[in-house]
Amino acid sequence: MDKFAMIIFGASGDLTKRKLMPALYSLYRDKRLTGSFTVLGIGRTVYSDEDYRSYILGELQQFVKAEEQNLELMSSFVSHLYYLPMDPAKVEGYSQLRERLVELTKEVDPDNLLFYLATPPSLYGVVPLHLKAAGLNTPHSRIIVEKPFGYDLESALELNKIYSSVFDEHQIYRIDHFLGKETAQNVLAFRFANGIFEPLWNRNYIDYVEITAVENLGIEQRGGFYETAGALRDMVQNHLIQLVALTAMEPPAVFNADNFRNEVVKVYESLTPLTETDLNEHIVRGQYTASGNKKGYREEKGVAPDSRTETYIAMKLGISNWRWSGVPFYIRTGKQMPTKVTEIVVHFRETPHQMFRCSGGNCPRANKLILRLQPNEGIVLKIGMKVPGAGFEVRQVTMDFSYAQLGGVPSGDAYARLIDDCIQGDPTLFTRSDAVEASWNFFDPVLRYWKDNPDAPLYGYPAGTWGPLESEAMMHEHGADWTNPCKNLTNTDQYCEL
Ligand code: BG6
Repeated sequence: MDKFAMIIFGASGDLTKRKLMPALYSLYRDKRLTGSFTVLGIGRTVYSDEDYRSYILGELQQFVKAEEQNLELMSSFVSHLYYLPMDPAKVEGYSQLRERLVELTKEVDPDNLLFYLATPPSLYGVVPLHLKAAGLNTPHSRIIVEKPFGYDLESALELNKIYSSVFDEHQIYRIDHFLGKETAQNVLAFRFANGIFEPLWNRNYIDYVEITAVENLGIEQRGGFYETAGALRDMVQNHLIQLVALTAMEPPAVFNADNFRNEVVKVYESLTPLTETDLNEHIVRGQYTASGNKKGYREEKGVAPDSRTETYIAMKLGISNWRWSGVPFYIRTGKQMPTKVTEIVVHFRETPHQMFRCSGGNCPRANKLILRLQPNEGIVLKIGMKVPGAGFEVRQVTMDFSYAQLGGVPSGDAYARLIDDCIQGDPTLFTRSDAVEASWNFFDPVLRYWKDNPDAPLYGYPAGTWGPLESEAMMHEHGADWTNPCKNLTNTDQYCEL
């Protein structure tokens, strides 16, 4: 798409101001939006075009990094914005939308329409049908849909049915912004552009894998949404499982959209189905409680005082295939943790025989590889080295690569990358319909179990801590502890563990 119109549903919402507009501005600044383009915002709040432009200009000044702000450029960017107040849930507005697009697309190709659904998930099924009724699902149009795609397997199947009745699969872009992260893509480069790691990347050498994506914020202003989602739908069924796929997948022979996504689906289909014991013992859910000056989840705006929505989840997964049989994958995510960190930690097996004994307080330890996605993006290999001097004291030290060594920290603008890919017509980093279904197929029993067993444990954890102790106990079964990075990790910190 060289010349196109992007139509954002939910244009007065949080995602648009925090992520979408800064991403579009960064593409504009980097001259990635080269032809003529128009952005038409749609929402229920009433703005004129002019008012919407000044609203977005103000938000850009808040959400674009200070060093990337250029008032002249931002003003020129917002001159491409238009606004149509309408309720996307009601079909009546769509003929007006079509008329507005006819008028606005004089400069651009009227067939090149890119719809972005930044609305509450309850509208995901409705909007495409209304677009179809108004004849707006043109052959070159594309639609980007936010996660969570469906609330469970049944609703995801239903949504896929609706979307495929309106668009061809190559027009549907189910976005998962984790895959737009430079550092997530680097997991593939690390594994498949180096000859020395892949031979070790299997059950013969790897003891277990840990994947963590935790945050030190609560749910902010999103109580209404979060109450209907919870950590499983918000983070696990999409972001975390994508990271499992990047870690566990086979190398595609040729890197393209179909091959890459075929391998992702194969991982999801190989996830070992959860047994009653797994559901009881290998899933720990938690909810943050008030601590110090931090509110508890139940005190947040829009949250029921007796809510049983999980803000933390830790799980043990298995992958039943030749490469991973018997290797547990421990994954966890949580709000109001001590720090914000996303990382994959690969724990290698111990040496078959321990020649060196513990000495000077140090014992030889198994190798560990940390792929840190954020912050302090980089890769660390923990290896044992002899401490200089008499005797044989072996201490674990780190060999590290940090992105800073490549001349800077990756911008982290996952949305810009993914919107750009969609404009270019490259769906590689978007979730295909079969992947959504395979992932829900695996997680659906968890939702059903919680529904059928309303008394299944939901553990409280004080805001600002590493989550329920029960999740530590789950790790202890494997004779291990979670890798908890330093409390106030920042971009400039060295790698560290508590
Ligand atoms: C979003 C979730 O998809 O990802 C949020 O809805 C979460 O709850 C966010 O905070 C985390 O993304 P990132 O890129 O900040 O790690």
